[in-house]
Amino acid sequence: MTQIIDGKQISKQIKDELKDKVSKYKSEGTEISMAVIMVGNDPASAVYVNNKKKACEYIGIRSLSYELPEETTEAELLELIDKLNNDPSVNGILVQLPVPKHIDDNKIIRAISPLKDVDGFHTQNVGSLCIGEKGFVSCTPAGIIQLLKRSGIEIAGKECVVIGRSNIVGKPMALLLLQENATVTVCHSKTKDLKEVTKRADILVVAIGKPKMITSEYVKDGAVVIDVGIHRNENNQLCGDVDYDDVYEKCSYITPVPGGVGPMTIAMLMNNCVESVALQMSE
Ligand code: GUN
Repeated sequence: MTQIIDGKQISKQIKDELKDKVSKYKSEGTEISMAVIMVGNDPASAVYVNNKKKACEYIGIRSLSYELPEETTEAELLELIDKLNNDPSVNGILVQLPVPKHIDDNKIIRAISPLKDVDGFHTQNVGSLCIGEKGFVSCTPAGIIQLLKRSGIEIAGKECVVIGRSNIVGKPMALLLLQENATVTVCHSKTKDLKEVTKRADILVVAIGKPKMITSEYVKDGAVVIDVGIHRNENNQLCGDVDYDDVYEKCSYITPVPGGVGPMTIAMLMNNCVESVALQMSE
């Protein structure tokens, strides 16, 4: 019997745990705040940013919203980041991506203080993850680890295959699974005979960005399938990178789209915000 991993429920559980931590901090006189910066008016980004602000409100984190016009220069954005870096009342800083083309996103990410980089995108945090030191971890892969652990899925010793090698998902995902003592393979667009590799996976994490590409032919019997993709199909319904109906019967656990990995990203962003307080205090 296939089990559906309920990301909505698990993310709610995490957010409720964080709510308790935040109220404890409040009772000790510590308020947590996060600055959310959006440049331009990409409609998808506006939805994400709004969801992040709502999660902050639910947990009791103060969100400071900076909605900047499309014409904002790189220098202006860097100046704002510098101001927020130096403001001790700001714990987390997030610049919603993508930024307009005239702004270098890598330069922006590098400008955020690693101690306030709640997205976990700064090279210092990526480096810390690589060598197993404390730091912020990219939210989506961190959320996937929570989905696995809170569903009682053992990771140590498992064959894990990650499809996708992005800096935000694929690479940190591989590092986190390695940290959990899995045997990890990363596949990408140049991988030869993808099916042969994915069929070895006990845990298959799919982050390729192609709607319904992973069918049952790619999946071993009894595998755990985690779908990071989110798309609209021809009927305007949401779907993932995995052909859910085709794969469902074959796996032991599967994440749905929507309601699987998606809600975990925000829960882990909130987790990073709460953790930022201790990290900043220890400096
Ligand atoms: N754009 C799409 N996903 C993300 C994310 O996790 N963080 C930021 N900052 N921008 C994004």
